[in-house]
Amino acid sequence: MTTALITGSTAGLGAAFARRLAADGHDLVLVARDTKRLREQATELHDRHGIEAEVLTADLSTDVGIDTVTARLGARRNPVDLLINNAGFGNKGRFLDVPMTDELTMLKVHCEAVLRLTSAAVEAMRERGRGGVVNVASVAAFVPRGTYGASKAWVVQFTQGVAKDLAGSGVRLMALAPGFVRTEFHERAGMGTDSIPNWMWLDADKVVAAGLADLARGKSLSIPDPRYKTLMGAAKLVPRGLLGGITSRTGRKYGPR
Ligand SMILES: NC(=O)c1ccc[n+]([C@@H]2O[C@H](COP(=O)([O-])OP(=O)(O)OC[C@H]3O[C@@H](n4cnc5c(N)ncnc54)[C@H](OP(=O)(O)O)[C@@H]3O)[C@@H](O)[C@H]2O)c1
Repeated sequence: MTTALITGSTAGLGAAFARRLAADGHDLVLVARDTKRLREQATELHDRHGIEAEVLTADLSTDVGIDTVTARLGARRNPVDLLINNAGFGNKGRFLDVPMTDELTMLKVHCEAVLRLTSAAVEAMRERGRGGVVNVASVAAFVPRGTYGASKAWVVQFTQGVAKDLAGSGVRLMALAPGFVRTEFHERAGMGTDSIPNWMWLDADKVVAAGLADLARGKSLSIPDPRYKTLMGAAKLVPRGLLGGITSRTGRKYGPR
C-alpha cells in the first residue's frame, strides 16, 4: 500500500486525482483549507474504496500552512510516496488591475509552497530510493500571461530541473500542464467562460489519467491532450512579441489558465 498527498484535493483536478488514486488502492492525505469539505471527501473515498484518507487542513498561502504539510511529508510513519502539488487559483484582470497582495499570494501558493513541499518530499523519498512528485502547472506557462503564466513557467522549469538533478535516484518528478479544465477555478476567480469554445475544454478525470500515465512513462513534462500539444508546438514557432499580442487580445479574463 502506498500513500499519496494531494494539495487542493477537494475540487477540480485535485478531486480527480483523489478519486483515481483511491480507486487504484492508494491511501491518501487530503490537503485544502475547508476542513468540513475535506472530512466529507475522506469519508466518501474511504467508504467507496476502503482506503485510509487523512485530513490535513492547511492554507498554503501561509507559512504555518506550508510548515504543517512539510512536517507530514517528512514523517517516517506512513511515509508519502507520491506528492501532487495541485492547489492553485486565478486572479481576474490584467497586471495593475490585480491588487499586489493577491499577486504575492499567488506566488506563495504556486511557487514557494511548491518549492518547499517538493523539497521536503524529495528529501524523504531519496532516502528511501523511490517516490514521485507531480507539480500541476498549465499551458499558460508557455505563453506570455502575467503573474499566473509566470508562476506556472516557474513550476515547469523548477520541476524539470529537479527531475534532471534526481535522475537515477528512484524519485520521479513531472510538471503537468493542462489547458482549460472544467473545475471550480474560473468561477472562484470570477472569470467568465462563455467565449471559450467547447473543444478547448478538458475533462479533469481524463487529464489525471493521461498525467499519471506520463509519470509512469518517466516524462518530466506532460501536456495531457493532443489538441493542446499541437497548439503549444505551434506557439513555439510564433515570435513571443506576436504571441503576447494574441494572448492579450484573447483577454486575461479568459486565456489559458
Ligand atoms: N481549471 C483549469 O482550467 C486549469 C488549467 C490549467 C491548470 N490548472 C491548475 O490546476 C490546479 C487545480 O486547479 P482547479 O482548476 O482544479 O481549481 P479548483 O477547482 O478551484 O480547486 C482548487 C483547489 O485548491 C484548494 N486551494 C486553493 N487555494 C488554496 C490554499 N491557499 N491552500 C490550500 N488549498 C488551496 C481548494 O480548496 P480550499 O478552497 O478548501 O482551500 C481546492 O481544493 C491549479 O494549480 C490550477 O492553476 C487549472
